[in-house]
Amino acid sequence: MAPTRRLVALDAPFTDQKPGTSGLRKRVKVFQQPHYTESFVAGILAAVPAPAAGASGHTLVVGGDGRYYGQEAAQLIIRMAAATEGKIAKIIVGHKAILSTPAASNLIRKRQAVGGILLTASHNPGGPNNDFGIKYNVSNGGPAPEGITNKIYDFTKTLKEYAIMEDLPEVDLSEIGTHQAGDLEVEVVDSVADYVELLHGIFDFAKLRAFFAARPDFKVLVDSMHGVTGPYALRIFGEELGLGAGAVMNATVLPDFGGGHPDPNLTYAHDLVERVWRDEIDFGAASDGDGDRNMIIGAHKTFVNPSDSVAVIAHWATEAIPYFKNGLHGVARSMPTSGALDRVATKHALTCYEVPTGWKFFGNLMDAQRLSICGEESFGTGSDHIREKDGIWAMMAWLSILAAFAEANPGAEVSLRAVLADFYAQYGRHYFARYDYEDVSSDGAKGMMAELRANLPAAGSLVLGNADMVVQESGDFSYTDPVDGSFTSGQGLYVRLENGSRFVFRLSGTGSQGATIRLYAEQYHASQVDLDPQQALGPLLRAALAVAKLQEYTGRDAPTVIT
Ligand code: G6P
Ligand code: ZN
Repeated sequence: MAPTRRLVALDAPFTDQKPGTSGLRKRVKVFQQPHYTESFVAGILAAVPAPAAGASGHTLVVGGDGRYYGQEAAQLIIRMAAATEGKIAKIIVGHKAILSTPAASNLIRKRQAVGGILLTASHNPGGPNNDFGIKYNVSNGGPAPEGITNKIYDFTKTLKEYAIMEDLPEVDLSEIGTHQAGDLEVEVVDSVADYVELLHGIFDFAKLRAFFAARPDFKVLVDSMHGVTGPYALRIFGEELGLGAGAVMNATVLPDFGGGHPDPNLTYAHDLVERVWRDEIDFGAASDGDGDRNMIIGAHKTFVNPSDSVAVIAHWATEAIPYFKNGLHGVARSMPTSGALDRVATKHALTCYEVPTGWKFFGNLMDAQRLSICGEESFGTGSDHIREKDGIWAMMAWLSILAAFAEANPGAEVSLRAVLADFYAQYGRHYFARYDYEDVSSDGAKGMMAELRANLPAAGSLVLGNADMVVQESGDFSYTDPVDGSFTSGQGLYVRLENGSRFVFRLSGTGSQGATIRLYAEQYHASQVDLDPQQALGPLLRAALAVAKLQEYTGRDAPTVIT
């Protein structure tokens, strides 16, 4: 039968397709409901701007982290894009629908696509009983701003029908090359090649190879957690840097991530942590399901806190990374991220922007050339080479720093611990900890936040009568984008003390079940830099929990994850 364009009517529109911090994330079973995925894809296709008069149709990038349901979703997007009557003329899709989030961002920019549809729920577990996700990125390669995600949501709430091609044979996504799906051109590309080329323009691969060649005992172990970065890490670390396939663990992309929780932190990446700390591996790193997050750890129980990571990278950037050799435009961090980066900015006379949680807030600053390097405490680090955070980029940045450190300190120990000690000696240390309370009741979480918002300790008061906890400022974080003037409020409750400490409460925007409360605490020490962070922050964390009445509202006496 010849493919035909059909309008499919909905009995009733879906009212729950509001994208969170990073796209629409739901259980797979939710996406599998009749018309559910179609409805959200229709919303995205409607949000794609019409091509200029006389211009040909747009190109859209499609790919994901390999999780369960990704293949079906990619085929469905092809059938719906083919029914846009020329608005979308071409789809560029990763081999077997695989693209890491950074690789997708790069392809959108490189191929001047109108945007991309990313099939990922990032670090959330995958498989038939876990999560799937769909995220829309715009033409700068970054996540769609709120104005657009709200439009998509509004569209889905009133959707009556959507268009789709029927009897269109499936495109063979395992076949690299150009295919035709009705009037739509579908180009299946190597998932890794363009991304590797991008990194070659940023880092000095020859210098890194020489660094390893001079140190045959230097051990590297990268954990892909059965997420999308396996093939990328094998190509880059295994082949290009000559470290061999043994340098990458859990490198096979699996639809359920091997049953694991593909989030690179000390709790979920425990296999890596155990091996690195037991075998004294010099450099250990992990990335999440879709490859945008990273964790860096090393021998001697070294853990590079993400807040420190972005600060150290900014400190070394011009010296260690060729891409930045002419200097940085500026730096930025999300609000809960510690102030270590601010100190680097002050020393190097750079502007440091503080934005709400969510990578999308960095995009405008990058497009306006105000921002080069940014990071978040949530294991996200990156730069303006793309418009997403980038796990493998962060690993390459840290290896480059080690190489530059070795060059600058001949004869000294070359280790993550030595790089951190050197950094703390120059800037002092921002101790940082995060407590996550996952899957608490939504009502409890909302109630706690509402009461805390109403009763935030005021400037000049003492937290729980503690003489050394004088409040300097408190509030609910809001942000006005300096580029387009857009305003975002309700981004987290913070209490800053006169001694430079701070605690913050906010609700996660990425969960798919119940609510997750996050408590962030930081405390600065100019010269005491060898304390255990959990101990250094203990009194502040306990005070924060008591002020918020967390246990009362949630029944929890301990966090699910501690960072
Ligand atoms: C995603 C975004 C990050 C953001 C994080 C926050 O990973 O890409 O930019 O920091 O979500 O997650 P949360 O669960 O704290 O809202
Ligand atoms: Zn991710």
